[in-house]
Amino acid sequence: MGESRLAVVSGGGTGIGAAVARGLVLDGYDVMIVGRRLDVLLGAAERISEESGRAGAVTAVAADLTDPAQVSAVVEAVGERTVDALVNNAGGYLGGATGTLDEVAGWWRANLDANVLTAVLLTEALLPALRRPGGRVVLLSSIAAQRGGGGPYSAAKAALHGWAYDLAAQLGPEQITVNVVSPGYVAETEFFGDRMTPEGHAKRVAATLVGRAGVPDDIAAAVRYLVGPSAGYVTGQVLGVNGGSVLGR
Ligand SMILES: NC(=O)c1ccc[n+]([C@@H]2O[C@H](COP(=O)([O-])OP(=O)(O)OC[C@H]3O[C@@H](n4cnc5c(N)ncnc54)[C@H](OP(=O)(O)O)[C@@H]3O)[C@@H](O)[C@H]2O)c1
Repeated sequence: MGESRLAVVSGGGTGIGAAVARGLVLDGYDVMIVGRRLDVLLGAAERISEESGRAGAVTAVAADLTDPAQVSAVVEAVGERTVDALVNNAGGYLGGATGTLDEVAGWWRANLDANVLTAVLLTEALLPALRRPGGRVVLLSSIAAQRGGGGPYSAAKAALHGWAYDLAAQLGPEQITVNVVSPGYVAETEFFGDRMTPEGHAKRVAATLVGRAGVPDDIAAAVRYLVGPSAGYVTGQVLGVNGGSVLGR
């Protein structure tokens, strides 16, 4: 038997990333999850292994992906293996102040670092290891990129779209696909921290056509499709998974 396929999922210790990691383990992949908190990653790895009955299928690498020096830890952990799927999911909304230009710069840089640089650095680092032909790259954007609402977070996620088109063009000749999944409101993750209120939740649910919040498995299902063998003709696309909150873009 050949070795299992390998997926790398950033932010795989919590929320959407953990659901993607669990789904890909169920699909037969070995999954490497990456985040800054090793204890969180190890907890997720243990849970997923137990639930899936595949001991050792999930490995954890602690790295702050905004820091080029720390990204090399992932490259070292991958070693000589080929990466079948890279899911750039790490990111989030970072709050900030706007009193001075220095504060504005700090707020914007923090959101660009967390949402753009994390994906760019990890992807650049793992490019040589991607499977050729057949590799898959997925970027997690946000409905905020398509309809605003998040200031520098919206702008940072929108930046991923333009970059994804170039990456899809660059890697297409090697039969590697690059796509963006753009979630709407997804509950049961760490994304909102203590920012969510009952009113905020109700407003977001009311904005959907299906009358409910998304859950991490809704997003994981789209990622599993895009990294799977049947999606080889889908590249350079933005797939909205938002309950109909934003239509057709
Ligand atoms: N929940 C939503 O409604 C929603 C909607 C649209 C888009 N999204 C996007 O979906 C993705 C997943 O979010 P989520 O909802 O699952 O929230 P989450 O639970 O907060 O997940 C974010 C993950 O990213 C990791 N991470 C953040 N910064 C990192 C860094 N610098 N280096 C390495 N890892 C980092 C975090 O782990 P550590 O803190 O341990 O590093 C965490 O596991 C994000 O990109 C988010 O912007 C979420």
